[in-house]
Amino acid sequence: MSFVNCYEDASRANAYSTLEFANTYYLAYRDLPAILAEHVTGTKALDFGCGTGRSTRLLRKLGFQVTGIDTSEDMLRIARSTDPSGDYRVVPGDDLSAFPAGTFDLVLSAFTFDNIPGAAKTRIFRDLRKLLKPTGSLVSIVSSPEIYTHEWASFTTKDFPENALARSGDVVRIITTDHPDQRPVEDILWTDESYRAVYREAGLSVVQVFAPLAKGDEPYSWVNETKIAPWIIYLLKPAL
Ligand SMILES: C[S@@+](CC[C@H](N)C(=O)[O-])C[C@H]1O[C@@H](n2cnc3c(N)ncnc32)[C@H](O)[C@@H]1O
Repeated sequence: MSFVNCYEDASRANAYSTLEFANTYYLAYRDLPAILAEHVTGTKALDFGCGTGRSTRLLRKLGFQVTGIDTSEDMLRIARSTDPSGDYRVVPGDDLSAFPAGTFDLVLSAFTFDNIPGAAKTRIFRDLRKLLKPTGSLVSIVSSPEIYTHEWASFTTKDFPENALARSGDVVRIITTDHPDQRPVEDILWTDESYRAVYREAGLSVVQVFAPLAKGDEPYSWVNETKIAPWIIYLLKPAL
């Protein structure tokens, strides 16, 4: 299947760079500091699919020495100009050979696998696992399948009723309402069962799974976020 990375686009990159940690995205990052403090030892981190650097800057604030990598020059250009002292590098789609095995205490991928077709997922997760130290952790933040069939503070999917019929591996569409670029993003639906199969094949053990819900007292106009988790966070370790 041919699938275009919609982030290889200057105007999408500009729009994406205006997103920070508000609204639905708040829930993707809220619990990350506590999860990392509990499970990660060491400070050497790789942010796989760093985009315009939001997730990289968060890791840097938490004290990690981070290399942010992405395939999109448009996204990286903004990451570098926002954070000139950061380490942001372009990588070819699925070639991580620039990094020696056993290097990182933490690999974070925040929303990166939403846009990676199924066949490549296992191969890339396997390569990322090889980059981890034996004690390292991989934190994989992905969209829940439910995000594509509900309304949210940051997203709308009501124009795409066909999303409800999608199976794991199918293309689904979603519009971010938090920024001015109202073109739909095309993602690949991938269920929990499918992610667990990919992790197993890639030699990664699932240590814990988080499905963050809003409490209701946050300063955001929640739509479904107090009842349905828009994101799933997998804490993974190299399988023994
Ligand atoms: C939704 S953005 C997330 C950016 C960032 N992690 C954040 O939290 O804001 C996903 C990023 O993954 C990148 N990406 C997609 N496929 C990739 C691949 N095979 N290798 C590296 N980056 C990739 C895209 O270019 C895009 O910048």
